[in-house]
Amino acid sequence: MAPAPSSTSSAVILNINGEKHQLTVDHRTTLLDALRERLDLTGTKKGCDQGQCGACTVLVDGRRAVSCLNLAVAAEGREITTIEGMAEGDRLHPVQQAFLDLDGYQCGYCTPGQICSAIAVIEEHAAGWPSAATEDVRPEAGPPPLTPDEIRERMSGNLCRCGAYVSIVQAVTRAAEAHQAAAHDDDRAEQDETDKTTEETAA
Ligand code: FES
Ligand code: FES
Repeated sequence: MAPAPSSTSSAVILNINGEKHQLTVDHRTTLLDALRERLDLTGTKKGCDQGQCGACTVLVDGRRAVSCLNLAVAAEGREITTIEGMAEGDRLHPVQQAFLDLDGYQCGYCTPGQICSAIAVIEEHAAGWPSAATEDVRPEAGPPPLTPDEIRERMSGNLCRCGAYVSIVQAVTRAAEAHQAAAHDDDRAEQDETDKTTEETAA
């Protein structure tokens, strides 16, 4: 039975991968420990436990966060996505598939954090966010090309002790290209729909 809340603990409801989990946590419990030790979501890995390696990266409201530096109590009311929530049934997320196809890992320990980061990196880049490697940061310049240097800079918070970086950059590049192609197809479908409506209105 879960311990009752006290002056040092609180009952929280965490929304993880679209499911609500109710638990009582010590106020000092990190999100990482709540995921791994209390909820058995062990896909998220503990490396340094001090915010330096990125192994524990998850998405919080769609933005990447190192779960070892976030408290579980502060995660209440947020949408948390872990590596367990990326695939749709048997269909892997395109970033997971790219890592698999291009050997973006060796031992795989850093991989869940790398994939969570890569998913957010691709979204951040598509939304026009600059990085320290971006040469022209004016908003009107639009998103810079997602070059290997851009990817390395944007993924630099995730360390890989196996040194699978070359393949990781290739995997992120491929997944970003697929993401751009899908966005382009969506834009065209939307434009076709608008054109059709305009023609029907004019007829
Ligand atoms: S375990 Fe969180 S950054 Fe290393
Ligand atoms: S694949 Fe082994 S630590 Fe990255």
